Amino acid sequence: MNILVVGSGGREHTFAWKLAQSGHCDNLYVAPGNAGTETIATNLPIEVTDFNALAAAIETYQINMLVVGPEDPLVKGIVNFFRGQKEFDKLIIIGPDQNGAQLEGSKDFSKVFMNKYGVPTAKAKTFTATQYNEALSYLESQDLPIVLKADGLAAGKGVIIATTIEEAKEALKEILVDKKFSDAGNKVLIEQFLKGIELSVFVLSDGEHYVILPEAKDYKRIGEQDTGLNTGGMGAVSPVPFAQSKFIKKVEEKVVKPTIQGLKSEGIDYTGFLFIGLMNVDGEPYVIEYNVRMGDPETQAVLPRIDSDLVELFTAAGNKKLNSFSLKISPKTATTVVAVAGGYPEGYEKGNEISGTEKQVNDTMVFHAGTRISEGKVVTNGGRVLAVTALANSIQEAKSLSYNRLKDISWKGIYYRRDIADDLLAYSS
Ligand code: AMP
Ligand code: GLY
Repeated sequence: MNILVVGSGGREHTFAWKLAQSGHCDNLYVAPGNAGTETIATNLPIEVTDFNALAAAIETYQINMLVVGPEDPLVKGIVNFFRGQKEFDKLIIIGPDQNGAQLEGSKDFSKVFMNKYGVPTAKAKTFTATQYNEALSYLESQDLPIVLKADGLAAGKGVIIATTIEEAKEALKEILVDKKFSDAGNKVLIEQFLKGIELSVFVLSDGEHYVILPEAKDYKRIGEQDTGLNTGGMGAVSPVPFAQSKFIKKVEEKVVKPTIQGLKSEGIDYTGFLFIGLMNVDGEPYVIEYNVRMGDPETQAVLPRIDSDLVELFTAAGNKKLNSFSLKISPKTATTVVAVAGGYPEGYEKGNEISGTEKQVNDTMVFHAGTRISEGKVVTNGGRVLAVTALANSIQEAKSLSYNRLKDISWKGIYYRRDIADDLLAYSS
């Protein structure tokens, strides 16, 4: 089988790494990919939203399976584009269509969906720019802290947690009036703040059935002890020791089943990943957000724990046969530490030479993200540069392995958090 992975991050390198291990994978392509994917696949210089160029590549390379990594092409309708053309009717596509992708593309859509299908979530009210005064008086009537969310895709920056009313009013003005997030802020959700412990649950759906993948916890802030600016994610751990099977069972009954059923009731044929951001509030799951793809860097911790063949899993999803797929999950712990360019998530340099990634160390994997090859050398090409995952029998052991591996890797300005997984050590003894 010939497979094309769309995207260029650590998530896509991890997909490619796992797909390449399958005996069913003949030729593997990544568009546009990075320096890591280049070593195990053929990179195609095509942007993720250039659907015509992707279609041409699919014909040229006789691709049988298309795996869409990021949300942008999904929200822009990549699946509808291919499903609308007869010559692609045999192509297996992992990713939902544009209607399904609304679960991530519009926070208002997903809130209405959750309320309609009884999925537990924080109480919220949506306002448009013409309702600015109403929104202001609603804000004043709410408890603090309060959460404001721009409706559309805002590259992970559209959520503001305000602890004072002044801050909340300022955020409201920035979103609705100043258009800080442009059209993504045409609507704003004012949402109740949930206090609890966060984790992410991943589901693969074939439109009829689903499998639940290993859960993960990510570390969003740039600084240790969760301080400083938000990032795309600075690390991940799977499994999450406080998510015992009883809690995951609750998530399945109260969140996953009504979500899959709700999608069906809406006439949405959802083939792809569903990433459910949850808050565990006193043992009860509440959905914070849906994403219609895998997480990054959660993928780098989740996929190494899947012992099943990924091509077989995706083929089962494409053929609506997930009900007969038995997913094999490793009991080991995976810790992923993301190393970034100095200055990220604000301004940072690109083009710095990276050393030390080639060495093979047992039970550790280096997944590239913002890297590229320049004059035969691997250089930095983004904020999140790479991630090191280690797989071991305990959190402590996995953590040590990840950090030891990182000691050998360097470039000018490299930074990573030293405390990934520390908060979970207390649960593991
Ligand atoms: P999102 O961009 O939707 O992932 O939100 C970013 C972060 O904001 C989440 O990871 C949570 O930590 C936090 N957050 C979002 N919604 C809420 C909420 N209702 N209560 C508390 N924290 C929230
Ligand atoms: N790590 C969070 C995300 O992928 O959205």
